Amino acid sequence: MTTVGILGGTGPAGSGVAIRMASAGYDVVLGSREPSRAAEVAKGLTPRGSGSVSGAANEDAASCDLVIVSTPWDSAVATTKALREQLANKIVISMVNALVREGKELIPVYPPRGSMAAQLAFALPESTIVGAFHHLPADQMLDLDSGLDGDVVIFSDDDAARQRVADLVDEMPGLRGIVAGSMSLASAIEAFTGVCISLNIRHKVHSYVKLGGFKD
Ligand SMILES: NC(=O)c1ccc[n+]([C@@H]2O[C@H](COP(=O)([O-])OP(=O)(O)OC[C@H]3O[C@@H](n4cnc5c(N)ncnc54)[C@H](OP(=O)(O)O)[C@@H]3O)[C@@H](O)[C@H]2O)c1
Repeated sequence: MTTVGILGGTGPAGSGVAIRMASAGYDVVLGSREPSRAAEVAKGLTPRGSGSVSGAANEDAASCDLVIVSTPWDSAVATTKALREQLANKIVISMVNALVREGKELIPVYPPRGSMAAQLAFALPESTIVGAFHHLPADQMLDLDSGLDGDVVIFSDDDAARQRVADLVDEMPGLRGIVAGSMSLASAIEAFTGVCISLNIRHKVHSYVKLGGFKD
């Protein structure tokens, strides 16, 4: 069975993905700059099903079969670049959004290559970058009883990799994976997260994205 590592997995976003991946039967390693913190966070997560969540260093998480980047946007490139060798020839999922808070809004910031996924693709030329999980509210992901029924919009320039991630997302409770297309969509998908979070702040809700019109 594929193992999944999450860089920066001690944060709410990475932990939320971890508990649902483990509930789909995967063994997940939360990565951290401080392994003892990751072990502590992992202890607090109780997945349902046969998978597991453990905590370790980011280096250990990067050694898993599939790796997710869940650090703040301004540390994602440095974190992954340092692990370039371990990440080579693997699917690396970016859930990173470049956003800054201004009052009640989260405003998108555009890195030089237009999106964080493109920045990571440039930093990791031997890896296959797939974008996913951008629009999910971490607290709903963390609570397996939250009733979450959300869509995960997925993009990559690699057709097989994006389909593999969509299939994996479909196994996670409360989520449906939908391939949107290529990396050309990355900046729009990442920036839309700013809209999602601004809606949540303004309306005091934990909304999530669900696309109509698809057949189940
Ligand atoms: N929060 C959400 O609802 C949500 C939803 C979808 C996507 N996202 C995206 O997912 C990413 C993580 O979100 P989050 O809310 O979980 O963020 P976070 O809590 O601020 O950070 C996640 C983890 O990143 C590590 N980290 C922090 N500063 C770092 C640095 N300078 N260098 C290396 N690692 C560092 C920390 O782990 P250690 O200290 O243990 O190393 C931290 O626990 C963001 O890019 C965000 O845009 C968030």
